[in-house]
Amino acid sequence: MLEKIREKIQSFIDELHHPDISHLASKITSGKMLRSKLVLAICPSHHALIDLCAIIEMIQSASLLHDDVIDASDIRRGNPSVNAIFGNKNSIMLGDVFYAKAFFELTKLDIRIAQSISNAVIELSRGEISDVFMAESFNTDKAKYFQMLQDKTASLIAASAECGAILAGLDSQKYKEYGKNLGIAFQIVDDLLDITQEACKLGKPAMSDFKEGKTTLPYIYLYEVLPLSERKILISYFKKDKIEAYKWLKEYFDKYHIIPLVVAEARKYGDLAIASIKNENNHLLEEVVKTMIYREF
Ligand code: FPP
Ligand code: MG
Repeated sequence: MLEKIREKIQSFIDELHHPDISHLASKITSGKMLRSKLVLAICPSHHALIDLCAIIEMIQSASLLHDDVIDASDIRRGNPSVNAIFGNKNSIMLGDVFYAKAFFELTKLDIRIAQSISNAVIELSRGEISDVFMAESFNTDKAKYFQMLQDKTASLIAASAECGAILAGLDSQKYKEYGKNLGIAFQIVDDLLDITQEACKLGKPAMSDFKEGKTTLPYIYLYEVLPLSERKILISYFKKDKIEAYKWLKEYFDKYHIIPLVVAEARKYGDLAIASIKNENNHLLEEVVKTMIYREF
């Protein structure tokens, strides 16, 4: 099925009849397709299924093409990003093409699906703007951080689950709630891996979030438990790319047992996701949560 979705994306691109677009698009590395896997796990068969998944994946790709420019990131999924190969202008324009084509195709689907996805893109963009503004200074506000990640990461995952349920004729609200909680857990796990995993496994430099100005949950928790003098040291390392900062941070995350605290937070949202679809009898969706949060960090 995932191969069929990739073929559909390719045929949407081919329909644009533009060799430069095809050339640029050929450098995008396919991801894990989490959103499509969710849709398929909720609705295994429907005539609009492949189109819906291709649309969602193209919107996800568009947002990452723009995000890599915003974050000045040269690597995506372990490979050079489109902006690294062809420059920022091309990455932005390719993102626009993907986004526009996806929306054109979206108009052919059920209006509830079109509204769910387009609303998620508003939230996605709102989240990215908050992310950029929050990177101006060290953020200590946990609620603000959660709102940002709900918008930036959970919204499209929630909409994907909701749309899968709409196609399958299921209670879409329950699945949207599942997707939202899964998305929050997913981002918290991602925040953790940025700190605990080696660069070779991450496909990008380790501990890059704090350097990019992202005060993710582990940093907010560390700030909360530190005495005043050490808070000042933590803040002084914000956006700094220094070996000394990495060493200090690793030591203090250990000293104050921050990682298990954040793992527990991710599991809380994972459990909420499972609770949202209890009695729906979808073991596949429960497995998605479990493999994401019950793992080594
Ligand atoms: C990755 O965040 C970014 C997103 C998930 C959303 C980006 C959204 C936009 C750029 C809004 C525009 C949307 C469209 C459809 C054109 P990250 O930088 O924390 O993650 P990363 O480590 O994967 O880069
Ligand atoms: Mg980024």
